[in-house]
Amino acid sequence: MKSFRVDLRSDTVTKPSAAMRKAMAEAEVGDDWFGDDPTVNRLQERAAEITGKEAALYVPSGTMANQIALRLQFSGPGHLVVAEPLSHVASTEVMSAAVLSGIAYRTVHGDRRGRITADQVRAALEPDEPYDVEIVDLVCLENTSGHAGGTVMDVEDFRAIRKVAEEAGVAVHLDGARIFNASAASGVDVAEYAAEVDTLMFCVSKGLGAPIGSLVCGTAEQMREGRRIKILFGGAWRQAGVIAAAGLIALEEGPKRLHEDHERARRLGEAVAEIVPGSLDPADVETNMIFADTEASMAMTPLEAANRLEGHGVGASVVSGKVRMVTHVDIADEDVETAIAAWKAVAAR
Ligand SMILES: Cc1ncc(COP(=O)(O)O)c(C=O)c1O
Repeated sequence: MKSFRVDLRSDTVTKPSAAMRKAMAEAEVGDDWFGDDPTVNRLQERAAEITGKEAALYVPSGTMANQIALRLQFSGPGHLVVAEPLSHVASTEVMSAAVLSGIAYRTVHGDRRGRITADQVRAALEPDEPYDVEIVDLVCLENTSGHAGGTVMDVEDFRAIRKVAEEAGVAVHLDGARIFNASAASGVDVAEYAAEVDTLMFCVSKGLGAPIGSLVCGTAEQMREGRRIKILFGGAWRQAGVIAAAGLIALEEGPKRLHEDHERARRLGEAVAEIVPGSLDPADVETNMIFADTEASMAMTPLEAANRLEGHGVGASVVSGKVRMVTHVDIADEDVETAIAAWKAVAAR
């Protein structure tokens, strides 16, 4: 098992707070298969309220949340989903989608911030001639974009894409694993983003700081069918109120402090840009992630750089060919300074 003085590998490494552990110990529970767990039900109701959707479904992972939403809106094998090729659904989850639902993708390349445009989506939805063989059922967006560095997509872009999709009779799903980070950075309410999509999912287990869980949100009818799919996928997790209790605290308290993670990421990004010139542009740090290109700037593979940082007690991961560091609730100002000192040591090798 790896242990770090400062763990910046992901915002999923957070430990439950004392308040979460207390709430977990005292949680009222029931069997979620029957819809009987009052704490799960409360979390689902709050998720629906906050996103402005009719209903929500609490599931074990972001992957399961995306896969339920995709399955719900996908008619069947032989059809396509439009997505950015490096988005989580079209990369990490590509085999899940293929195996679970027979999904294939029509990919649309985003810009360096991971954004795709309404014109690109329109082109992707155009019927092929003379027969419309390549039918698209769904457009899938991601905000923040993980692979592009935690970048935020403008709500105007959502509106434009939604309009194009609606005209083509195609639904839109949002992988909003970190939608609360996007909201904290842009000042746009999560419900405003949610209003522009048919379904969305978000994770309480990432920036919000809960140990486990994600929520799929949509209409009551979609969530009724979603519940059936969740059971089909093996996600009936019985007395899940034990962890939903921590999820409720994450959902209420987590969003209030995300700006602190973003400030720390900015501080870290500015320092790394100074220590290793050319490794990153601090202006690219929009939320809680920094991505440093060590190959281009210091002729060091990202894996070697991450290993060397680990040698100084600082955890980083390798994503999109770069060293990624993610700030989160368990990272304080002094941890950022420790990480900066580790970068200095690695740069001075
Ligand atoms: C953008 C995005 N979507 C979905 C997921 C999947 O979440 P999980 O790891 O909980 O399955 C992740 C995980 O990192 C992610 O970054």
